[in-house]
Amino acid sequence: MIAPSLLAADFARLADEAAAVGGAPGVGADWLHVDVMDAHFVPNLTLGLPVVEALLKATAIPVDCHLMIDDPDRWAVGYAEAGSYNVTVHVEAARDPVALAKDLRAAGARAGLSVKPGTPLEPHVETLRHYDTLLVMSVEPGFGGQEFIADVLDKVRTARRLVDTGHLTVLVEIDGGINTDTIEAAAEAGVDCFVAGSAVYGADDPARAVQALREQVVHASPHRWG
Ligand code: DX5
Ligand code: ZN
Repeated sequence: MIAPSLLAADFARLADEAAAVGGAPGVGADWLHVDVMDAHFVPNLTLGLPVVEALLKATAIPVDCHLMIDDPDRWAVGYAEAGSYNVTVHVEAARDPVALAKDLRAAGARAGLSVKPGTPLEPHVETLRHYDTLLVMSVEPGFGGQEFIADVLDKVRTARRLVDTGHLTVLVEIDGGINTDTIEAAAEAGVDCFVAGSAVYGADDPARAVQALREQVVHASPHRWG
């Protein structure tokens, strides 16, 4: 799955930018990734619930909210109630991630848990049993256009093994620095869903960029997708 990140899109034209990566199932974007930043958990400020609510009315593509905010225990459920398909919170910020996952699911969304590049996976494996997606950050959260941190692929391999052996049921998502140079290594490590901001919206034809990334994934891991 490919999830273009609107962080690299034109914020004055979000509906058009969503439409620019849409299309028939299996061709366009599978999810639309929306980065919510609060200038506290990360040193950047983007958008919040009112903008996500407006976007949800403007697109049929499932919306994947990535909350880089403090106190997600208080704020995340609103994004689920609004109709987001997947709502991801950071394990470094959540007070009670197990209760939060239950609340997100009860509100009708999939629950996602994200780990920053320096956060190990092992202490959180039991928590992940309550989650639907694991978002492995491959840059420090806060900004688009940063360089891919390949070391995080060890965490992807660990997660893939845990899923393939039936210990977890999460979908493995990666976020940060994904482009034509890095996506094949991520695919080989076992990623299911690839977030790409600048590689999609920095391209002349965002829809074509999505398709090109997808073709690279199939090429790199034909045993999974071929
Ligand atoms: C960074 C965000 C990413 C960002 C990725 O904190 O979580 O979703 O948009 O941008 P690129 O693909 O340009 O690294
Ligand atoms: Zn993100």
